[in-house]
Amino acid sequence: MSGTKKELGVGIIGAGFMGHTHTYNYLNLPFFYDDLPVRIKLIGICDTDVNKANALKDNFGFQLATDRYQDLLARPDIDIVDISTPTTFHCEQILDALAAGKHVYADKPLCASVAEAEQLVAAATRSDCIQQVAYHYRFYPAIAKTRRLLAEGVLGRPISFRFTYYHSSNLDPNKPMGWKQDKAMGGGGVLIEMACHVLDLIYHFFGEFESVRMDSMILYAQRPGPDGQSVKVEGEDHVLLTITMKNGMMGTAEVSKVMAGTNDDLDYELSGTAGAIRYAMMNPNFLQVHATGNQGFTTMATVNHDPESKSNFPGPRFPIGWLRGHVASQHNFVRAVAARQPASPSFRESAYLQQITQRLYDGHDYMGDLALQDDS
Ligand SMILES: NC(=O)c1ccc[n+]([C@@H]2O[C@H](COP(=O)([O-])OP(=O)(O)OC[C@H]3O[C@@H](n4cnc5c(N)ncnc54)[C@H](O)[C@@H]3O)[C@@H](O)[C@H]2O)c1
Repeated sequence: MSGTKKELGVGIIGAGFMGHTHTYNYLNLPFFYDDLPVRIKLIGICDTDVNKANALKDNFGFQLATDRYQDLLARPDIDIVDISTPTTFHCEQILDALAAGKHVYADKPLCASVAEAEQLVAAATRSDCIQQVAYHYRFYPAIAKTRRLLAEGVLGRPISFRFTYYHSSNLDPNKPMGWKQDKAMGGGGVLIEMACHVLDLIYHFFGEFESVRMDSMILYAQRPGPDGQSVKVEGEDHVLLTITMKNGMMGTAEVSKVMAGTNDDLDYELSGTAGAIRYAMMNPNFLQVHATGNQGFTTMATVNHDPESKSNFPGPRFPIGWLRGHVASQHNFVRAVAARQPASPSFRESAYLQQITQRLYDGHDYMGDLALQDDS
């Protein structure tokens, strides 16, 4: 205990890109949220490359750096285990963390297959532990505002959507194959790695899917492997999803790592009988909204105004950036752990998306036969 606030100890597995991102967020949560009901304490950092773990320990005050995640699970002062490792390792690490009674914050995708997802949902349901997956785009102020506008009926009867999510990082044929292009490590290519974010947003906005079909491509059949030798690429670089929803909408999602000139370009257009909403994540502070009676689109500033999560730092009028969604996502999880309340996006929601993804990887269209069960 420190002061009057209960302490929650955190152990992070994976000291790479997301290990750094999550560390930044845990450290900064108290700046963003005056209402944080607990004090976060960074206890342990694990990476199979222990030098990376040591660097985070030295720079950010973790008490323990290790290359064995079991060392974190054995610590009674660690309440939350944060999974920031390549996707193929998530299942074993989460199952062990839940068995050790730890709350789990897992980066997306939840795991590499449906069989794993089912095990994780079952284990989470059996446990008393709180769990959440890092579909952090839900927590951008503009995206949260989009959902509120949809709930208010701004579209009228919803008709269509178009989502695009573009990177350009696989355009270089000499880029060595990393784990995110390696099906064995990542579970697939851009469908499981990036389109999962888009599927989560479509689900978050419009509910369950009626059908999803996919076309996909691999731009270069071979890439240099870790030792410089050419290896076969199995993870797709580009997918086009054609989607219908149980609410009657139809739309597309095009997701790619081979779109020239792009950085982290997630855009959407949502249309209905009475209105439309447009968003471009590279311009994250504004929505474009059309409502009946207006001609064309009106710009709506959403900036850091975030009434749902009640962030008040640095102030509601200031512009946001990519980290803002992650801060709010981790705040959502920490608040749920403190209150012992279920958190969303949950393992079950992620498993539903994973079932759809797996159908597409197996070469089938998804035909709406799955229903998402309530977590309660
Ligand atoms: N939500 C987002 O915005 C977002 C963005 C990027 C990545 N991700 C997800 O975050 C996770 C991590 O991705 P990343 O980009 O940080 O990868 P990364 O390659 O940058 O980091 C992964 C780290 O895990 C370590 N590692 C590998 N195997 C390990 C093991 N068995 N035990 C412990 N450590 C191990 C590696 O040495 C590396 O330091 C993935 O699930 C990925 O899909 C999410």
